[in-house]
Amino acid sequence: MEDLKLNISNVFPFVSESEVELMKEETRGSLEDIHKGEVKGSEYLGWIDFSSVHGEKLSAEIEETLEPFREKAEVIVVTGIGGSYLGSRAIIDSLSHCFEVFALRNDSPKVVFAGHNLSEDYLSGLLDILNEKSYVVVVISKSGTTTEPAVAFRILRNHLKIKYGKREANRRIIAITDPSKGALRKMADEEGFASFSVPGNVGGRFSVLTAVGLVPVFLSGFRIRRLIEGACRMEELTTPLVDCAENPSAMYALARNALYRKGKKIEVLATNHPGMIYFGEWWKQLFGESEGKGEKGIFPASVNYTADLHSMGQYLQDGERHLFETFLTINSPGRRLMIPHEEDDSDELNYLAGKRISRVQKMAESGTIIAHYDGGVPVLQIEIPSLDEYYLGQLIYFFEKACAVSGILLGVNPFDQPGVEDYKNNMFALLNKPGFEKASQNIAGRFKGRGSH
Ligand code: PA5
Repeated sequence: MEDLKLNISNVFPFVSESEVELMKEETRGSLEDIHKGEVKGSEYLGWIDFSSVHGEKLSAEIEETLEPFREKAEVIVVTGIGGSYLGSRAIIDSLSHCFEVFALRNDSPKVVFAGHNLSEDYLSGLLDILNEKSYVVVVISKSGTTTEPAVAFRILRNHLKIKYGKREANRRIIAITDPSKGALRKMADEEGFASFSVPGNVGGRFSVLTAVGLVPVFLSGFRIRRLIEGACRMEELTTPLVDCAENPSAMYALARNALYRKGKKIEVLATNHPGMIYFGEWWKQLFGESEGKGEKGIFPASVNYTADLHSMGQYLQDGERHLFETFLTINSPGRRLMIPHEEDDSDELNYLAGKRISRVQKMAESGTIIAHYDGGVPVLQIEIPSLDEYYLGQLIYFFEKACAVSGILLGVNPFDQPGVEDYKNNMFALLNKPGFEKASQNIAGRFKGRGSH
């Protein structure tokens, strides 16, 4: 079977062959240090072999425990934020029918998400739907204390209790959280929710291949075992035993850091399947939260082609030359559709008659790569043969490993996120959370007249 492929030939001449050659030793060293656990944040390296060590057992446990939940729910509400929802959303969106909104697969419940915003309209709208449907809540929070999912979960649990009574409500909740700490673990144990653990040594944004991602993906009806097989294959392809030049994660990390050192501060991930917009969101979180530290880091942005060629295409072609682009290409579509011949050719499209849409897309992509490269944008290319669970497993592990290596090359701890605490402290102070009284006094005067509710 074919594997994911990386092509870095279009980073030259923006970086030279000798610069790439010189960075191989540094990259190989970073990868080795990660595998030896001799890097900053080494307490969060559990994801490295999670799929090969625990994947099989965890899949069996998920299949055995969760089938009854699938049977009793028309809707699954996955409640989480950041690493506790983006990965599963990326996988489910990528694999779903593009018009999933019409619930075309009636053998599987429809998965919706909550707890990733503080929008009163969003949650109210969700309750409108849940009034009419049977549902189950999957609440995911490693810390068990994050405000957004905790607020959403309180509202959903309250709704469940009113709709089904407390006993049945508790039977409609699956909690995924720390094995022993946090408010959610305590509640899950006391109330007897079905529960799974987020391993202590796996950080949120590296947790998609643990129960955090696998539970929602299973409930959506997709093949978690194939996802794990794909990840295990990529684990083999990216160990320090593989020559650096042949290791796709290492070479991707190397290439992006080489470009960053040349002043290319922004990376744009270009996907070409409308179902992959959330894959771009997951990727942005993985790299943004891992690398944006100490006033350093490549800014991750994403586009979805060809739609965004008609919005961001102008900037990419012609704007400031501080960026590079990474194309994520799916080589074969899952379906087949040809452009028909029209006798009168009134739309002048007969030159495309008999061609598949994917052929036109491929030429649009190749034309874009050439145009952007000629316009001064270095281009990286990642290709997978098709969009399925196996190749998503490969892609996810590929990016996780690359992100770790890239963060070490950059000189940051890729596994922490100290910067996200600042907004939370201000929010708690402004909301008069107990324990934040002093901060509350310091900040209050700065927001006079705002937030009167
Ligand atoms: O990557 C991370 O660690 C974060 O994005 C977390 O996933 C996010 O903040 C949610 O945290 P928690 O799962 O503790 O609610």
